[in-house]
Amino acid sequence: MPTAIRAQCRAVGSCLPQQVLDNAMLERMVDTSDEWIRTRTGIRERRMVADGEYLSDLAVASCRQCLQRAGLEAEAVDGIIVATSTGDFSMPAVANVVQHRLAATRAWGYDLVNACNGFVSGIATASALIEAGRCQRILLVAGDVMTPYIDFQDRNTCILFGDGCGAVLLEAGPGDGPGVIDWLMGSDGAGADLLKIPCSGSAIRPSPAALDRGDHFLKQEGRQVYNYAIRHMTESCQQLLQRNGLGIGDVDLLIPHQANQRIMTNVAERLQSRPEQLVSNIDRYGNTTAGTIPLAMADALDDGRLVAGSRVLVTAFGAGFSWGSVYLTWGGSST
Ligand code: ACO
Repeated sequence: MPTAIRAQCRAVGSCLPQQVLDNAMLERMVDTSDEWIRTRTGIRERRMVADGEYLSDLAVASCRQCLQRAGLEAEAVDGIIVATSTGDFSMPAVANVVQHRLAATRAWGYDLVNACNGFVSGIATASALIEAGRCQRILLVAGDVMTPYIDFQDRNTCILFGDGCGAVLLEAGPGDGPGVIDWLMGSDGAGADLLKIPCSGSAIRPSPAALDRGDHFLKQEGRQVYNYAIRHMTESCQQLLQRNGLGIGDVDLLIPHQANQRIMTNVAERLQSRPEQLVSNIDRYGNTTAGTIPLAMADALDDGRLVAGSRVLVTAFGAGFSWGSVYLTWGGSST
């Protein structure tokens, strides 16, 4: 989209908990096998917070690394948006805690809740604020601490999720420079009951009966989510490419939300992308909900695949249902 100001992605930082939860450990908890998990999901291991380790800890560490890579002090940041469904508390917004701990003295902050589509939603919001001239620099943090919401007796869900967080610094740049070129999003609330944490808001009070029912754990209809994810991620990428006059061959990297390796491979095949375009790290981290895309960006940067000028197609799907895609050119340095 032509704009006078473009939101440039200057740097990315990431943070994962130290504690590893591998498939062998899950084999001792539920009736599953390393072979089933690897072949059905592509996941070998995931990370898990320790007692007393919070999303804010992962967010602050991600932001510090991101700012250090951008060569900036925290005072240079105008705003902090944290895309998460699992902040330290439902109130206050964790972005305020992050602002304080970073000593980002000039920055406002708020949270943005849109499950696995949180990073794409955050890119849409932050880039619009920058393009409108209201902000110079925004730290977009995206991540989740999923493991407290997972029933480690439910083999359908406990194998999928992990904890992790990333942060991207978006900065105002020239309209013809690198940055966020276009995005699109969609919603279909008819899917709300197919993937949710029932006792996590105002609808169900956290009573002993609710806890006994396990309403505080994530529930999903996995097969339906799987099918909708493939369809909407593929279609939103196709629409975005088409309206920008691009083909998949014009893209260097395809960075999908990391929910299941089979979902990603299926989307990549439907888009007719080449295998080397797809960025995947789900084998090591599982599904970190809002965190997967910036974590994949951080890995692609570390292994030299994401460099200044890289043309990147991002796509996500999650609870809601909510989905979206972003086309951007990477503006940061390669370190
Ligand atoms: N180990 C062994 N067997 C299992 C396990 C397990 N961990 N989990 C399920 N099974 C069994 C089922 O009970 C079923 O057995 P049955 O045939 O005797 O009934 C069999 O395996 C097949 O089950 P399906 O649900 O059909 O398996 P599927 O191939 O669909 O894989 C999965 C399940 C991995 C959950 C898949 O549907 C999926 O990834 N869905 C997307 C869910 C998702 O990503 N949610 C995250 C949030 S949304 C997002 O990020 C996009």
